[in-house]
This record gives sequence, structure tokens and C-alpha cells, in this order.
Amino acid sequence: MPSSTDPSAAGVAGHPGTAGAPGFPARRMRRLRRTPALRRLVAETRLSVDDLVAPLFVREAIDDPVAIGSLPGHHQHTLRSLVAEAQRLASLGVPALVLFGVPERKDPTGSGAWDPGGVVQRALGELRSALGDQMVLVTDLCLDEYTDHGHCGVLAADGTVDNDATLALYQRVALAQASAGADLVAPSGMMDGQVAAIRAALDGAGRQSVGIMAYAAKYASALYGPFREAVDVSIASGGDRRGYQQDPSNRREALAEVALDVAEGADLVMVKPALSYLDVIADVARAVDVPVAAYHVSGEYAMVKAAAERGWIDGPAVALEQLTAVKRAGADLILTYFAAEVAEVLGG
Ligand code: PBG
Repeated sequence: MPSSTDPSAAGVAGHPGTAGAPGFPARRMRRLRRTPALRRLVAETRLSVDDLVAPLFVREAIDDPVAIGSLPGHHQHTLRSLVAEAQRLASLGVPALVLFGVPERKDPTGSGAWDPGGVVQRALGELRSALGDQMVLVTDLCLDEYTDHGHCGVLAADGTVDNDATLALYQRVALAQASAGADLVAPSGMMDGQVAAIRAALDGAGRQSVGIMAYAAKYASALYGPFREAVDVSIASGGDRRGYQQDPSNRREALAEVALDVAEGADLVMVKPALSYLDVIADVARAVDVPVAAYHVSGEYAMVKAAAERGWIDGPAVALEQLTAVKRAGADLILTYFAAEVAEVLGG
């Protein structure tokens, strides 16, 4: 409460209900910004450790973790170092991780993705026995890390990605991941009908309790560059994903994608990337009644790290500001390579 000794209450202007004298502001916005406690009290957005999902990479047939140059602080993990990193995240209070696999061998159909002995399936087993239910285990469900051509599905004779043939393979991947212990599968390939196909396969196998976090509004973004180094993916003959991922020009289309995924049975929907798509996050958060995730992607992380390394920005401060903005836009949870760092700052 302003008192007579409070300098912000002094003067002729600024009391609620009284008009300011000419030339003086009627409302003093600065009152509630004066101390950290006041600012904390009136903050509209709160970033919490509970909001964070940490992406992790596990690579087959390596003896030691391999640092990922484009994602400073991140590694392609061995099974053993993966478990250690997950335990560290759990002790920091991070509630979830999303797992990506790097297989030793790739083939045209990406069969490593559904092999029961595949790297992600083995990792899930180890994570579950080490962590129990302490963390939510999410698996990226796609083929691009496993195909020798780097696309998110199988190719038709004309070289385009065959939508419906790919759906049948996604069903196999979903079942393999569910059997290995995934809590949530996260289809990221942007095939039409992928959520319905995966839901049907899971239900048909008695896996009703495994949920789907749908990469619903996923844009064909240049910001995935560092990720492709992390998973050793290059798309054959200079190709790209514009034939299945969304055009960055389109906003309304995201609502159509999200509505379809919710109707098909998505338990959570995701917008990706995050910062360049805050308008989309806000639209989606208003439109749906399922939790909304946003993916602060590899390029968004790498830009902050690179500028901070040059001393051009305060990296941790920018990271917090960006993630707060993603929440302010309407995201309920955020997949971010900053998960561990931010958890350390925020406290578990
Ligand atoms: C596909 C997938 C990608 C990312 C997450 N899942 C790559 C792509 O669509 O090309 C990108 C994540 C990031 O850049 O951090 N398996």
C-alpha cells in the first residue's frame, strides 16, 4: 500500500481515482516495478522447472559420449551416459525428457526405428529401470534418423515421401516404443493421419495408456540445422522437408493441423519452432483444450550460445527471457536444450 512516506505516492498525480494534474501522468505504472518482491508478486507469467522437457540423444555402438559441436553442452550419449544425464535432470527436478536415437546403420525404410533391439528401445528399458516413474519418457517418433536418404518417411518411386506407406511404419515404431516403456510417443514426421494411425495401433495392442504428444504445427524451418548434426542426418540430393512440413508463411493453417491432430486423438499438441512462431502458439493455446507444448529448437539454442560465447549477449539471461516469452504466448510446456541450465537457475 502506498503510504505518505512512500515516494511513489508523493506529489499531485498518480493516486488511483484522482486525475493527474496537467502535464503529470495520471497512473504511475512504475509503482509495481519498484522492488523484486513487488515484481514477483504481480508477474503474469512464471517459468517453472515443471514446464521443461529435455531433449537427449543416444547413439548406438559408441564407447564414450560424443560432444555435439553445434549444440554446446550436449552429447550423443552412450546408454550409460544417457542414464547418468537423465538422473542429473531428475535430480534438478526436470519432469520429462524426449529421446532421439542415432543408429549405427541406416536403410531405405529406417528399420532401426522399430527394431525391438534398436537404440531407443534399449535406452527406454535402461531409463525405466534407473528412474522408475520419476521422469516422463517421451520418444520422438520419426524415421529420418534411421533412413539412408534422411527423409521422415519411405519414398515412392517418384522420390516423394509416400504418406500412407509411412503411416504403417509409424505404427510399428509406436508399438516398439510403447513396448519398451515410452509414456508418450511424439510423432514428428508431419504425415497426414499419423496421429489416428498411431492411436489405432496402440489401442489395438492394448496400449491405451500410452499418450501422443503430436508435433502438430511443425514448420519447415532452417532452425533445425544443428539438430541434423546431432543425429547425423543429411537429406539426400539437397532435398528438404517442404513437401510435408508447414510453410513458415502460414498462420491459419496451423489451426487446421492442430484441429486434425486433436480430433485424431492427440493428448498434447506442439508448435515448433517456438520463438519465430509465438503468434501460432498464442492462436493454438486459445483454440484447444489439450496442453500446448512448444519446441525451442536446436537453432534457437545455438544462436544464444554462439552470441554468448562472443560476449555479445548475456546467454543465461537471454535464455530465460526467451523461454518466458514462449510461456507468455501460451505454451504450457517447453522442449528446450536449456532445460538443465534453466533448472539449475530456477531451482527444483
Ligand atoms: C524429426 C525431428 C526434427 C527435430 C525434431 N524431430 C528434425 C527435422 O524435422 O528435420 C528438430 C529439433 C531441433 O531442431 O531441435 N525427427
